[in-house]
Amino acid sequence: MLLSGVVVALSSLITIPEKISPMAKLMRDMLKFVKEERVQIEAGKEPLPFPKNFERIKTAKVTPGKKPAKDHEQYLTSFLTELNAYYKAKDINERKQSLNILINTCIACHEEECPGPIQTIKTNRF
Ligand code: HEC
Repeated sequence: MLLSGVVVALSSLITIPEKISPMAKLMRDMLKFVKEERVQIEAGKEPLPFPKNFERIKTAKVTPGKKPAKDHEQYLTSFLTELNAYYKAKDINERKQSLNILINTCIACHEEECPGPIQTIKTNRF
């Protein structure tokens, strides 16, 4: 009993840093972005500032062992194109459609490179 208490106390002191790649970190920001934009749209609010750092998708290092797909360049180009298009949408309806299209570009790449998060990503479509 006492020992398990000590173990709990110790493990809350020592937080082992989770090792994730720069690409995975960027992707978590991208998922957060999609979720936040969905909320903005639902509330009828303006988009958040343009996420300039998403350009890093071109160069961010991936987890060792993960291989880019044959059409990697094409996937990231269409993602960045649709991200720009999202910011050009004129009204809420256009933004909804545009967010869906953007999310589809996430999924297209994920089908080839990293299927794990697809379901989570999909739930953000309108
Ligand atoms: C050009 C390909 C590509 C596009 C486009 C892309 N992803 Fe990813 N994504 C990846 C790769 C590759 C990984 C694995 C990264 C690693 O492990 O280093 C990943 C990983 C992730 C992860 C898991 C991160 C973690 O915790 O390990 C999430 C969540 C994610 N992406 C969400 C998104 C969302 C949301 C979008 C669109 C807004 C998107 N991705 C667009 C290639 C892509």
